[in-house]
Amino acid sequence: MRNLIDILDLSVSEIEELTQIAEDIIKNPEKYQEKCRYKKLATLFFEPSTRTRLSFEAAMMELGGNVIGFSEANSSSAAKGESVSDTVKTVGCYADIIAMRHPKEGAPLAASFKAEVPIINAGDGGHNHPTQTLADLLTIKMEKGGFDNLTIGLCGDLKFGRTVHSLINAMSRYKNIRFVLISPEELSLPDYIKKGVIEKNNIPYTETRDLEEAVKDLDILYMTRVQRERFFNEADYIRLKDSYILTLEKLANAKKDLCVMHPLPRVNEISPEVDEDSRACYFKQVKYGKYMRMALILKFLEVEI
Ligand code: CP
Repeated sequence: MRNLIDILDLSVSEIEELTQIAEDIIKNPEKYQEKCRYKKLATLFFEPSTRTRLSFEAAMMELGGNVIGFSEANSSSAAKGESVSDTVKTVGCYADIIAMRHPKEGAPLAASFKAEVPIINAGDGGHNHPTQTLADLLTIKMEKGGFDNLTIGLCGDLKFGRTVHSLINAMSRYKNIRFVLISPEELSLPDYIKKGVIEKNNIPYTETRDLEEAVKDLDILYMTRVQRERFFNEADYIRLKDSYILTLEKLANAKKDLCVMHPLPRVNEISPEVDEDSRACYFKQVKYGKYMRMALILKFLEVEI
């Protein structure tokens, strides 16, 4: 039985396999529409979500399966004090696979020790978000043709942005990658990623506060929201929230084939005028996320394709 807690739980060849399945689902959706008949996915969301929960649910429905779950902790017995371990042990009696989001780092890992069905981490605090990374990887493959030889700018809240942490882990396994870390000092990338992943893998990187200067060298610009829910005080959030707002003017010196990504939701980080630019890829990312989650469900349920 497999769990997906960290993107590194999947090998490079498994990621290749998932992207190939997702591409086949895009081309031949009818081939997959009964693959999970009589199977159930449980979505246990102890923290808010639009994309991740609904794309998991849409993914299972498009595979012919069913969905149960809850979208806030207060509507589950967690509100009465039930432990995460007991919740997943219980839900494993009803469902074949569980996607779980939790505000506490490590909660899906703890759940996986007790669960008798596969656990997929759908975001744990400021730590990891591996299925967003699957969406990001398919976007990169579709837009850039592969994962090697890329200069990737990561901009905004690199401290609390779990999607950034998972994406750096994933991209660190490919050839000739360079990272440009664009953030205010207070929201810079934690050392456990900077030293523990980037430096450990001898990947070249630079740190800057200047988005306009950095943008001209980039193949990918990954914008992120300042994560209000992880701040200890509101005043710090208000001071930092609009550190970066991407506009068409700021893209003036960018490459014509730059791929602008954002895991969404956005607040102010990308001006809506950018949505119409051919370099805006963030709504494609949303679509690709559903197909990668379909591929992941098929793999973890060991469905024959
Ligand atoms: N990208 C992402 O995780 O979005 P949601 O919080 O809406 O699920």
